[in-house]
Amino acid sequence: MDLKSLIRDIPDFPKPGILFRDITTLLRNPDGLRHTVDTLTQQCKDRFDKIDYVVGMESRGFIFGTPLAYQLGAGFIPVRKPGKLPAAVCRVEYELEYGVDRLEMHEDALGEGCRVLIVDDLIATGGTAAATAQLVQQTGSELLGFAFIIELQGLGGREKLPDVPILTLIEY
Ligand code: PRP
Ligand code: ADE
Ligand code: MG
Repeated sequence: MDLKSLIRDIPDFPKPGILFRDITTLLRNPDGLRHTVDTLTQQCKDRFDKIDYVVGMESRGFIFGTPLAYQLGAGFIPVRKPGKLPAAVCRVEYELEYGVDRLEMHEDALGEGCRVLIVDDLIATGGTAAATAQLVQQTGSELLGFAFIIELQGLGGREKLPDVPILTLIEY
């Protein structure tokens, strides 16, 4: 199935010069949604052993991370934007093009011995995924790898990530 044909390109969103890869048209398509989640699941099963937890980043990482965790028989851990999680959190700051941003995870969500896969819809500069990896590794968990639906190549995203396998379904 040609998943790329279900992704819509929106020029100059959210600012001039950015070509936004819009996954809402993929999500809206029943066969596209099922095929994406099933392919992601199969590739993760082939590539990674005994995943205990899938970590997904707010908000688009939740869309794919939760059904993936369900299909893998793993738990799902949300990484959220600041001020959203109710219990004690660990946090990480990361560089944006202009300024800094912050991500948070419950400090009791993971710990030593947990085998973790990080999932998001897309990797661009890698800042979001690298920050999430820091959060996961701070807990003493074992980071098995990353899975993304889309990789925007040429932005140096991969180079920012720790040296673990990176799985992607669609590349631009
Ligand atoms: C988008 C996308 C990734 C991130 C990738 O999220 O869903 O999480 O950007 O960019 P990077 O590799 O340069 O960090 P965004 O922050 O736009 O928020 P959203 O998921 O809530 O839409
Ligand atoms: N997140 C970061 N860059 C993006 C892009 N070009 N399209 C969709 N989501 C993104
Ligand atoms: Mg995101």
